[in-house]
Amino acid sequence: MNIVLLGPPGSGKGTQAQRLERDLGMVQLSTGEMLRATVASGSELGKRAKAVMDAGNLMPDDVMLGIIADRIVAPDCAKGFTLDGFPRTVAQAEGLDNMIAEKQIRLDAVIEFKVDEAALVERISGRFTCAKCGAGYHDKFQRTATEGICDICGATEFKRRTDDRAETVQARLDVYNEQTAPILPHYAAKGVLRAVDGMADIDEVYRQIGEILGTG
Ligand code: AP5
Repeated sequence: MNIVLLGPPGSGKGTQAQRLERDLGMVQLSTGEMLRATVASGSELGKRAKAVMDAGNLMPDDVMLGIIADRIVAPDCAKGFTLDGFPRTVAQAEGLDNMIAEKQIRLDAVIEFKVDEAALVERISGRFTCAKCGAGYHDKFQRTATEGICDICGATEFKRRTDDRAETVQARLDVYNEQTAPILPHYAAKGVLRAVDGMADIDEVYRQIGEILGTG
């Protein structure tokens, strides 16, 4: 199955994409993670991406389309993928339409996370990830089972994102409303748009996704 998770920053896309990969083998394609890896590489593109991301803005559509075009045809995606953070503009959605038509890939569902924006700043500011394997946690909502030790790989170092400062989070929410939310009617018209209650707890959101995908 190939799906898109669509929702504002902190709505829970990455958390659910990790679970789908763990349980169903659907590869998580997070464009945010790909860009953070590019930033860490110190390349010219990475320097440009860091400035854009720290300001809460979006990278250019052609760059993102190029990244995704290569990724969705990689052999590990044959069992299915979850697009997490892509598409983010109408131009990216149209580019994805063309790409999957050309490659004869089917998009099974676009799942919107419906959330109360006021709660997102708390979610984002409490977020941290394992520095070794990238597993996601939260100070309040998703703690490690043993304090300071990653549940997945046992590492003891964790990191927080530089774009998770409160002022950047507000800019990212504004960008979502202005540039990403207009994608919703695009997918509603295609009949693939579904929604989950992103304010429910993590297990319940996952259950709702399972119901949509027929895997629950
Ligand atoms: P990206 O990394 O994609 O960030 P984002 O979309 O802003 O989403 P987040 O990762 O912040 O949130 P999420 O929805 O995954 O929530 P999470 O599961 O972590 O993009 C970063 C930047 O890269 C962009 O700003 C842009 O500059 C650039 N970029 C990326 N893609 C691009 C593109 N296509 N085009 C152009 N530019 C692009 O959850 C958050 C926290 O809440 C976690 O701690 C989690 O444990 C907790 N949590 C999750 N679900 C729940 C729940 N149900 N209840 C309680 N807590 C929960």
